[in-house]
Amino acid sequence: MIPLCTPEIKGNEWKYIKDCLDTNWISSVGSYVDKFEDDFKKYVKSNKAVVTMNGTAALELALRTLGICEGDEVIVPSFTFISPVNTIKYVGAEPVFVDVCNDTWVIDADKIEGMITHKTKAILPVHIYGHPADMNKIMKIAKKYNLYVIEDATESLGSLYNGKATGTIGHIGCYSFNGNKLISTGAGGMLVTNDEKLGERAKYLSNQTKTILENGAFYHEEIGYNFRMPNVLAAMGCAQLENIDEYIKIKRENAKKYNEFLSNVKGITLPVEKGNVKNVYWLYSILVEKDYPISRDELLVKLKENGIQSRPFFMPIHKMPPYKNNKCSNMEITNELFNRGINLPSSVELKEKQIKEICDLIKF
Ligand SMILES: Cc1ncc(COP(=O)(O)O)c(C=O)c1O
Repeated sequence: MIPLCTPEIKGNEWKYIKDCLDTNWISSVGSYVDKFEDDFKKYVKSNKAVVTMNGTAALELALRTLGICEGDEVIVPSFTFISPVNTIKYVGAEPVFVDVCNDTWVIDADKIEGMITHKTKAILPVHIYGHPADMNKIMKIAKKYNLYVIEDATESLGSLYNGKATGTIGHIGCYSFNGNKLISTGAGGMLVTNDEKLGERAKYLSNQTKTILENGAFYHEEIGYNFRMPNVLAAMGCAQLENIDEYIKIKRENAKKYNEFLSNVKGITLPVEKGNVKNVYWLYSILVEKDYPISRDELLVKLKENGIQSRPFFMPIHKMPPYKNNKCSNMEITNELFNRGINLPSSVELKEKQIKEICDLIKF
C-alpha cells in the first residue's frame, strides 16, 4: 500500500525524546517547549509562538485571544477540514461560509465583502492542501471593515505568500503537527503572531491564566485553558524542525514529478501555484473532469484496488447537519469540487518510481 501521507522520522527525534525521559522533564514545562517555540518563531519569522496540544487548540486559542464570542460572526470557507469551523462554534460565534476559487481552492476573496455584517469580527482563511489564500486582498478587506484575520496554516507550513511564511501575514496564524502534516509531533499545534501583546495573551490563556504570587501560590484573574504541549512532544518538534527544509524541497520535487507525468492526461486538472506564492503541495491533488474516461469515484476505487491510498476532496461543511442553517455565499465551486477532487499520496518518503506507478494508473 502506498499511503496518503505519513510522517518522516529520521533525525534527532529519539535523542531528544530520550533526553526528556532520562531527565524526567516529560510534562508541559521544560526546555524543549521553550526551544520549540523559539525555533519555530524564528523559522517562520514571527515575533511570538505559543505551542499547543493540536492545531484545533491553536485555532480555538486564536479566537479566544482575540475575544471572539457569542453574537460574533467569522467568515470561513466551507471547503476545508471541519476543525476551524468547529472552533468558531466552541467560542459561541457563528461561522459564515464563503465559496472558494476554482483553481487554487482557497477562499474566494472577491466573495467575502458580500457576507460581512455588523456582527462580523474576523476572517479565517484556510490555505488548503498547501496553496496560500490571497492574503493581500483579505488583509485589505480586513482593514476596511476593522476585522481580525486568523490564518489556518495547518496544511501550508512551508508555503510562502509574497516571500512570507503563511500564518505570519494575518493577526494570528495556526499550524498543526498531526501525524500527516509536514512536520509532526504525533499531535501538536502552534499559534504565531507578530503582535507581542496578543502573543502574551495567548500564552496566558493557554496556561490556565496562571499567575504565581510572591509566596508561590497560583492566582487566576479570569477563566483559562490547558492547551499546552508536553515537553516530550516538543522535543520531537525540535528534531522535526531541523529537517523541514529538506522535506519542503522533496514535497515540491514530488509535485513537479506528478505534474510531468500527468501533464497531458485528458480530463485531469492539475494543481496550481498562482500569483506570487510558493506552494508546499502538502497534499498533491487533482480534479477529475467530465471528459475523463471514468468517474472520480471509479478512479478512487481503481487506485485502492491497486494499493494506492487516495482521498476525495472535503465535503462542503455547509451541507452537514451542524452547519446546514448557517449563512453562506453562493457555493458553486465548493459544491463542485467535492465531486471532482482527489488527494494523491504525498509523503516525503514517496519515491519517483511510486509516483510513476500512481500516474500510470491514472493514465490508463
Ligand atoms: C485545515 C485544517 N485545520 C485544522 C486542522 C486541525 O489540526 P489538528 O488535527 O492538529 O487539531 C487540520 C488537520 O488536522 C486541518 O487540515
